[in-house]
Amino acid sequence: VSATSVRIAPLEARHRPHIETIVRATGVFNEDEVGVALELFDAAFGPRLSALVDADSPDYEFVGAFQDESPVGYACFGQTPSTDRTYDLYWIAVHPDAQRTGAGRALMDEVEGRLTARQARLLVIETSSRDDYVPTRRFYGRRGYSEAARVRDFYDLGDDRVILTRRLSASAPARPEAVPQPSSRI
Ligand SMILES: CC(C)(COP(=O)(O)OP(=O)(O)OC[C@H]1O[C@@H](n2cnc3c(N)ncnc32)[C@H](O)[C@@H]1OP(=O)(O)O)[C@@H](O)C(=O)NCCC(=O)NCCS
Repeated sequence: VSATSVRIAPLEARHRPHIETIVRATGVFNEDEVGVALELFDAAFGPRLSALVDADSPDYEFVGAFQDESPVGYACFGQTPSTDRTYDLYWIAVHPDAQRTGAGRALMDEVEGRLTARQARLLVIETSSRDDYVPTRRFYGRRGYSEAARVRDFYDLGDDRVILTRRLSASAPARPEAVPQPSSRI
């Protein structure tokens, strides 16, 4: 499969089974984590339970990587509450059959592109120190993410939480209340 066959497009509620298949197929997520991945999907695509949910600034945003008409990978991200333009990448996964074809790169390009357009400041990623995440950490390292902190034995004995960050716009202005903002700010 060539890298050019990957297409970035929005996900829809009907893609839930694809998301479940992708997350399971990666082989790195346990049952709890598969459940969390689907909870995030349902939070974004399920019926709105409350009129208080703000459709214009959702907690979880999804982007899909498609080959032909089917999603083969996706990313989920959102603004970190109580921060000034810091975002979390909550999930990224590409089906093993489609890995190393540029889908992950295309997803990160899309996420970072959207965030840069919003003048996001920082993207934070939490990952594991386990050996089966070596390719994942290499993937992030190639994109300029570096280790900002580590919580030893967080997930399990010998399995650290590794916190990676990348600054998205070095020249982004300070907090909105400190600096006058153009009225057209997205
Ligand atoms: C991490 C992941 C999303 C990368 O997706 P991908 O589509 O395979 O990545 P790409 O093909 O766009 O790779 C981009 C670059 O990342 C690096 N990379 C990706 N996978 C790699 C691997 N297995 N080994 C070494 N480098 C790798 C390479 O530099 C690669 O460029 P190249 O293929 O030109 O050498 C995918 O491996 C995955 O789903 N992993 C399991 C789930 C996971 O760990 N998610 C993150 C949880 S924190």
